[in-house]
Amino acid sequence: MIVTIDGVAASGKSSVSGGVARALGVPYVSSGLLYRAAALLALEAGVDLRDAPAVLGLLEGRGVRLEPLAEGNRVWLGQRELTADLHSTRVDKGVSAVAALPDVRAWVDAQLRLLPEPFVAEGRDMGTNVFPQAQAKFYLTASPRVRAERRAKERPEDIPAIEAALTRRDEADRRQITPAADALVIDTGPLDLQGVIDVILSTLPD
Ligand code: C5P
Repeated sequence: MIVTIDGVAASGKSSVSGGVARALGVPYVSSGLLYRAAALLALEAGVDLRDAPAVLGLLEGRGVRLEPLAEGNRVWLGQRELTADLHSTRVDKGVSAVAALPDVRAWVDAQLRLLPEPFVAEGRDMGTNVFPQAQAKFYLTASPRVRAERRAKERPEDIPAIEAALTRRDEADRRQITPAADALVIDTGPLDLQGVIDVILSTLPD
């Protein structure tokens, strides 16, 4: 079984996916981390984020690997763990440019499709492009202000700066952020984390 949980930036996808996956006793898979790894490697190598062959060369040549653990996904570059470096403001800013490259998207999609079922997959296009056959699909939204308030706990900038950056990223990601026609759209604004998890668990097929 595959459950997809897509949504806009900072809509709570990772925490919700982790909670749903734990309740189901399956791993969750964070596709955004692979895009973040692509951005980090390009930034570190001084490669133009729009240079598809160069970014792809970094991903393929250096053995980037997603470890979809139930307690939190990790990303490895050979023996080096990248996970802690993937949520910086610098990566937030650069990631949409590499995610717009069709070759990078194809590379990420191929990594994800190799993973053994069952799992919960979270991202932007899990229910539309990557796993259209998924048994249950969800799409999380919330207003930019609510998302910025939540994100402010994890970033050094103030709420208006975070809100502006999130709105810019939504705009840059607009091609990937259409919900699947068969996804249940959940506005997470009025709900806490457990509330969103409960809505999802209560609508899953047996
Ligand atoms: O989910 P997260 O905010 O960590 O994703 C980081 C970025 O990766 C997004 O802003 C988007 O550019 C890209 N992404 C994507 N498709 C996905 C997941 C993430 O384009 N399925």
